[in-house]
Amino acid sequence: MNLDSLKKKISDLASNAKTEFGSANDKLELDNIYRSYLGKKGEVNILLKSLGSMPQEKRKEAGKLLNNLKSDLEKNYAYTNSLLNDKANLSRLEKDKLDISLPGFSSRKGSIHPVTRTIRDVCNFFEQMGFDVEAGPEAEIDYYNFEALNVPEDHPAKDMHDTFYLNNEGLLRTHTSPVQIRTMEKSEAPHRIVCPGKVYRKDSDLTHTPMFHQIEGLVVEEGASFAQLKGLLNDFLTDFFGEEVELRFRPSYFPFTEPSAEVDIRWKKNWLEVLGCGMVHPNVLKNVGVDTKKYSGFAFGLGVERMAMLKYDIPDLRAFFENDIRFLDQF
Ligand code: FA5
Ligand code: MG
Repeated sequence: MNLDSLKKKISDLASNAKTEFGSANDKLELDNIYRSYLGKKGEVNILLKSLGSMPQEKRKEAGKLLNNLKSDLEKNYAYTNSLLNDKANLSRLEKDKLDISLPGFSSRKGSIHPVTRTIRDVCNFFEQMGFDVEAGPEAEIDYYNFEALNVPEDHPAKDMHDTFYLNNEGLLRTHTSPVQIRTMEKSEAPHRIVCPGKVYRKDSDLTHTPMFHQIEGLVVEEGASFAQLKGLLNDFLTDFFGEEVELRFRPSYFPFTEPSAEVDIRWKKNWLEVLGCGMVHPNVLKNVGVDTKKYSGFAFGLGVERMAMLKYDIPDLRAFFENDIRFLDQF
């Protein structure tokens, strides 16, 4: 092949390729045409291979011509490709026309669960009074849930708790009071803590659920007194429910406090118990090595659902845990 016939071939090939590129209806067609010219086995490569049969001194120029052809076709391909893209976009826009008069999809807004909100409110109050917020495990052992709290083996008070046992020693804590022990074991007196958390008992009716929340409070200080405990709970409950709340302290019994009391709040015509409290029993302080000559302590444990029930006027405690959106939506 001589140079002139090569030039003729190149110009034919270029004009054919461009015509074909121009006639492609979509990207797939275009890419097939591209391969037939510029692919491994395409026309341009076939021409390149034929250079071998040319006289040495012409090869360099022929090579240049073919490289120009290649880049010319590449450019043409890229241009056609962008035209096809524009076309595809346009037709998609035509098809996907948005009807902004259609009604939208509404999404449900979440809200804070009344139990969570109550825990936050209570903890906020006590944090402002200088209490730290503590946490403890829900799976406990007998020692922390009962024994260290002055509830020895075979003590009748154990029956009141209707415990879920996990194995010989393990159990689901029946109250948040074990955190009192863990706190006093961990650090030296004085202490001022509250601890919110889940507790478990075999119990279910209008005012009882098998899982519920308590908030434990513990103060161990020089001169801590029952009068302080009563004043603190009075302040707290009137802050939480408002001035009109009717409450009463009722003498009671807990193995880990002496003296002990429970607080009831007037609910419709009845009294509803919201918390238990008392002066920390000296046996409990001794169990964790607190110097009872120097320190005394008081503690309380309040039922979160009961507090929320009264504040938000919810007649059945079980509604808190049924996750009925219609119920939760009201908060
Ligand atoms: C206790 O659990 C003691 N640990 C409280 C305590 C702490 C006393 C520190 C002294 C010092 P009691 O079993 O009464 O006590 O429970 C405390 C509160 O939890 C109750 O007043 C009530 O508000 C709530 N409560 C008890 N059982 C349930 C239940 N099944 N469902 C919902 N709330 C409950
Ligand atoms: Mg009680």
